[in-house]
Amino acid sequence: MNQKEWLVLEKRVTGWIKEAGERLKQSLSAPLEVSCKSAHNDLVTNMDKEIEKFLVGKIKEYYPGHKIVSEEGFGDAPDSTDGILWYLDPIDGTINFVMQQRFFAISIGVYENGSGRAAFIYDVMVDELFHCLAGNGAYRNDVRLAPLKKVEVEDALIDLSATWIKPNRRIDQDVLTEIVRRCSGTRAYGSASIELAYVAAGLIDAYFTMRLSPWDFGAGLILIHEVGGVATRADGTAIDTLSRTSILAAGPALHEEIAQHIGRQVAAGKYLNEPD
Ligand code: IPD
Ligand code: CA
Ligand code: CA
Ligand code: CA
Repeated sequence: MNQKEWLVLEKRVTGWIKEAGERLKQSLSAPLEVSCKSAHNDLVTNMDKEIEKFLVGKIKEYYPGHKIVSEEGFGDAPDSTDGILWYLDPIDGTINFVMQQRFFAISIGVYENGSGRAAFIYDVMVDELFHCLAGNGAYRNDVRLAPLKKVEVEDALIDLSATWIKPNRRIDQDVLTEIVRRCSGTRAYGSASIELAYVAAGLIDAYFTMRLSPWDFGAGLILIHEVGGVATRADGTAIDTLSRTSILAAGPALHEEIAQHIGRQVAAGKYLNEPD
């Protein structure tokens, strides 16, 4: 697509996302239909499905040749990154949506032949849209985001999902202990796309998690790159945007320091396994 077409896409998606956000807000005044998927803490609601259907319908209507990678089964499950791919999470942070009625987002990332081109992460309840067209700067609503500044571990706020401390198959419980002890504080907001957007906006300094799916991180990675940040798997290697993956995202210097620390821990015998 040419630049003019990307600008049109940006306008369209912003309109769709705001309309979807309004539906989500309104849905909170009536009881939600909530069910469990793979586990007691893997929830899905009628609204996850409704919003995905709505957005997939819009994408298919305006861009019939594009493919969609989405969570609730209305997309295409493509097996290659050729062409234009949309990464769509209709509600990122479903547990927050159900339990807190805040801190959830609609996340849409658009890639062309594997390169991130457009990102939209809409934190519905605070009406905050993090967005960018690659190369044109990233924005938090109308405010342009600054390039990420260098932050030392001691001054950093680091966002971690609880996997780092829970017994599990993916990361030895001790791998991050030293970083957690040294840093300024930890956070865990429960919506990967918002967490990646917060790194891009400099609200937190790093985000680390051992398992995300493509729809969770598709948009966030584009924002991180746009502000000069780095996102890789936990061991510092490249992310495959069609697979589940661990993610370490931060400004370049902090990213390198955490990745090197993890590398030393693994060399000393601690384990680190990518999700299957
Ligand atoms: C989840 C959230 C959460 C992350 C999980 C995701 P969902 O997405 O992003 O922060 O830790 O791995 O599955 O299921 O609420 O869309
Ligand atoms: Ca989910
Ligand atoms: Ca998600
Ligand atoms: Ca979701």
